[in-house]
Amino acid sequence: MIPDSQKENHPLLFEQGAPGMCAVTLPMLDVPTTDKKTALPAEMLRSTPPALPEIGELDIVRHYKRLSHRCFSVDENFYPLGSCTMKYNPRINERVAAMPGFAHVHPYQLESDVQGILELLYRLRCDLAEIAGLAEVTLQPAAGAHGEMTGLMIIEAYHASRGERRSKVLAPDSAHGTNPASCACCGMSSVSVASMPDGRVDLDDLRRKVDEHTAAMMITNPNTVGVFDDQIVEIAEIVHAHGALLYLDGANMDAILGIARPGDFGVDVMHYNTHKTFSTPHGGGGPGAGPVAVAEHLVNFLPKPQVIQHEDGSFGWDYHRHDSIGIVRSFYGQIGVLVRAYAYIRSIGRDGLRDVAEKAVLNANYLASRLKHRFKIPFPPPFAHEFILVPEFESAGITEHDIAKRLIDYGIHPPTMSWPIHHCLMIEPTETESLATLDRFVEAMLDIADEIENDPSLVKTAPHTMPIKRLDEVAANRNLQVRWQQSS
Ligand SMILES: Cc1ncc(COP(=O)(O)O)c(C=O)c1O
Repeated sequence: MIPDSQKENHPLLFEQGAPGMCAVTLPMLDVPTTDKKTALPAEMLRSTPPALPEIGELDIVRHYKRLSHRCFSVDENFYPLGSCTMKYNPRINERVAAMPGFAHVHPYQLESDVQGILELLYRLRCDLAEIAGLAEVTLQPAAGAHGEMTGLMIIEAYHASRGERRSKVLAPDSAHGTNPASCACCGMSSVSVASMPDGRVDLDDLRRKVDEHTAAMMITNPNTVGVFDDQIVEIAEIVHAHGALLYLDGANMDAILGIARPGDFGVDVMHYNTHKTFSTPHGGGGPGAGPVAVAEHLVNFLPKPQVIQHEDGSFGWDYHRHDSIGIVRSFYGQIGVLVRAYAYIRSIGRDGLRDVAEKAVLNANYLASRLKHRFKIPFPPPFAHEFILVPEFESAGITEHDIAKRLIDYGIHPPTMSWPIHHCLMIEPTETESLATLDRFVEAMLDIADEIENDPSLVKTAPHTMPIKRLDEVAANRNLQVRWQQSS
């Protein structure tokens, strides 16, 4: 008989254990249960106890250990997820973040007791401003998307301070979905600007659409098709000529770190995604960090409190910023993530940052040049940190989806799919991968292309090596069952 642990769907915790089994030993109750002050009112008591699993500690440990082996992580294998950047998080960052002086501080501690972490945050905000070529940074936002929202609130406050209400935001058609979503969160409307066949912004379309109602242009540069738009200075001039501001979605900063500074090419506001650029954990829209950098004319609108250095050299929080948009995150931001970002910046230094960008770009271009003979690459090189590839195997009935699933059998995480153009794979190797890993990926892609020619059904039905095989993803999304339900 196959043991449960080897089955595809091994039992849920609720389906394991036996009455009376328990993983904890609770101390004896030392308060009276009948005391009127402490006892729960009768109407709030359940008539039957909740149906919780009764299971021993070892079985719980094995259950979660088994599940953890089903997770795919960048620590285990190549994860070329374009735009969502899964790069290795160096262990030194984890060690630093776990130091008790950082890990155990409490937001309500006196400033005088937490000078160390305050100094770190102050230094981090100065480093991020320097890297951006902008005046000042807030560390409060908890994700890139949250940074976008914060940046738009700052832009709105800026226009309001000039007696203007502007609510139109321009964004190229390759923009990440969070850009229009952030506009909607701020009560602004997003208007799409066309891209040219080479992936850069169509300046004629931009000129047609920008006007005195435009609050800002939100641009990602390099953009989501991996192209650095070298018209960026002209774009900034066009936008500024109409009194609007230029917002940079800095998600792809890892491609230009130490090479170009957004402030120098006309950007007024930008956010970083620390997970994409400074190797911190991501956390699905938070709890990550999305620090926002602004130019001098926007500094007064930054969220408060701001971490500052006093004249006597000590560090503290500044709550007295009258034009501030207010608080966008409880307490001071996602401190553990910020500590990791600081550790990363300091451990690799100025030259290391530039090296990150050069290697990220080199790796992406290496992959593109090795794959271009077998797969269509619709945008012209050179690429920045990622590139788009369109598999053309319709005659064999194979889509990008099938290739992504087959890659799982080769131990490689599927790249981003079907965005920002139809039927594409978006591949981002990051600077952290070795040549051997990149070559292994190329071999896997070429092998899959051979398989499509020889036996397309093998690819069409992949993955074959996983505990869960090909899912009907539409059904899985429409009929989500993520919670155990007691059978009646
Ligand atoms: C281009 C771009 N903008 C914005 C975001 C949103 O960032 P976050 O997931 O940190 O909210 C992402 C995602 O990583 C992105 O790739």
